[in-house]
Amino acid sequence: MIEVRTTSRDETLALGRLLATQLRAGDIVLLSGRLGCGKTVLAAGIAEGLGVEQAVVSPSFVIVRSYADGFLPLFHADVYRLGSLAEFDDLGIVDDAGDGVLLVEWGDAVAESLPDDHLVIRFTVENDDVRLLELDLHGSWMDRDLEVAV
Ligand SMILES: Nc1ncnc2c1ncn2[C@@H]1O[C@H](COP(=O)(O)OP(=O)(O)O)[C@@H](O)[C@H]1O
Ligand SMILES: [Mg+2]
Repeated sequence: MIEVRTTSRDETLALGRLLATQLRAGDIVLLSGRLGCGKTVLAAGIAEGLGVEQAVVSPSFVIVRSYADGFLPLFHADVYRLGSLAEFDDLGIVDDAGDGVLLVEWGDAVAESLPDDHLVIRFTVENDDVRLLELDLHGSWMDRDLEVAV
């Protein structure tokens, strides 16, 4: 487990840009934590780091948005509105994202539908602008030197 605190939106964006340098095709990152904790901000930073030009907006109504213009295809999902894991499975998001990077907001709910090899980032709101991010490494993530990126 790696812990990192950010004290502003900009710091979380910057962390996302750094994390992006560690990402590979097929990676899956779950972003979990309550509404407004900063999941979409981190996703926007990751997108920037991947060279995505388009502004990232929350995919909560469309469930998943994809961005094809970065160094890797980026798939950004928010499964908050889904009723069940079966619905998530039916959407085929994990397969569609196979050659790219998949970010899933509200990830804890879908962890059991994902391959073992994934990164979980849990956000805790400590106060107005301070967020604790806990990085829980699974599978190949344990062999990566993420300390350089946080
Ligand atoms: N340290 C921080 N990191 C990220 N966002 C922050 C931070 N401090 C304050 N904020 C604010 O919290 C909100 C996070 O929103 P958002 O990323 O959409 O949350 P989520 O996707 O988790 O619902 C934004 O309004 C942002 O400006
Ligand atoms: Mg969001």
